Amino acid sequence: MPRLSLKAVTKHFERHRALDDVSFSIPDRAFLALLGPSGCGKTTLLRLIAGLELPDQGEILFDDQVMAGGHVFMPPEKRGIGMVFQSYALWPTMTVRGNVEFGLKVAGLGARERQQRIDDVLEVVGLQGLNDRRPHELSGGQRQRVALARSLAMRPKLILLDEPLANLDAHLRDAMLAEFRRIHSLTDATFVFVTHDQDEAMAVATHVAVLDRGCLQQLGTPEDLYRRPASPMVARFIGRGKTLPVRVVSAQGGRNRVMLGSEMLDLPGCAPVGEGWLCFHASDLHSVSDGGHLKTELVGQVFQNGAWLSHCLPSEIDGNVVSLPLAEQFAPGTRINLAISGGWVVERGPASHGILPADLASVT
Ligand SMILES: Nc1ncnc2c1ncn2[C@@H]1O[C@H](COP(=O)(O)OP(=O)(O)O)[C@@H](O)[C@H]1O
Ligand SMILES: [Mg+2]
Repeated sequence: MPRLSLKAVTKHFERHRALDDVSFSIPDRAFLALLGPSGCGKTTLLRLIAGLELPDQGEILFDDQVMAGGHVFMPPEKRGIGMVFQSYALWPTMTVRGNVEFGLKVAGLGARERQQRIDDVLEVVGLQGLNDRRPHELSGGQRQRVALARSLAMRPKLILLDEPLANLDAHLRDAMLAEFRRIHSLTDATFVFVTHDQDEAMAVATHVAVLDRGCLQQLGTPEDLYRRPASPMVARFIGRGKTLPVRVVSAQGGRNRVMLGSEMLDLPGCAPVGEGWLCFHASDLHSVSDGGHLKTELVGQVFQNGAWLSHCLPSEIDGNVVSLPLAEQFAPGTRINLAISGGWVVERGPASHGILPADLASVT
């Protein structure tokens, strides 16, 4: 099974740059989630890996073999990949068995080998006994399993899944995520899974690549993205994170001393001295009766998961609303003092000046 590498891949649709200089590499048997808001280039990237689109610039490699780039173009059918779509794309008049068998017949496999592979994959995806059903006699989750079985039967090296759970309800989606993880562990294939839902990506993937407007923001483990976001966009997109503008006054040994208004904080971070963002989650905030690092005013509360999720607007610095669970209900306008016990500091780069739109983190 190959390592998948992209080197400086750029793709335009007429004058629109759908992908901009994207480079990354994931190891054999990884489970990569391509994550980002709608329109950020996820499907385009998947289609480039599949060979359904050509890059304008850059290279795509499986191990050291160039699939696309320079004068090389390996056609999709020779890449050893399987694709699974949101719409399942099953043959409606064929049975489960017929759907799985179709590609095997086209590939010229004999009857015994076909039967063996069908039995194997239907067991892997948990559809034993449903061989003779047609798609309309199956639930959404079962149809998605057939689509996956059909791909797996071809023993692909790489399986590409484009928002495969988007048509399922939330409960079934959680069950299918666990199933994808289990199935991935039973195969030798590398999975690339496209989603705009960060909870899906974090639940299923060994590696997550965050895309924004065609640019790769960060590739890392789910924990990397949560604890050490590379940019304010990633910080806001993952785990409903928040950011506040800070001034970085020292940078040493993976830590930053920052000024948040007139308060000094010493936190992990990688920002150089200058303007920065403090990135944090609700669990890093605590309300305190006196002092604290951030004076705020309560702007709203919602009862959620057994506590009052409280939205608080900083009153002495120019920052977006921050949120944390509080045990009690308060009147709007109540002054809430917050202490900050954790977080991560990033540089305020050219792509991230000004306050980011507050709703970016809630795009799902
Ligand atoms: N065939 C195409 N022709 C023109 N524009 C396209 C085409 N495919 C995608 N785009 C544009 O490229 C951008 C990225 O699209 P896409 O990769 O489908 O995003 P995502 O899957 O992340 O929602 C979007 O702005 C989209 O409108
Ligand atoms: Mg898409």
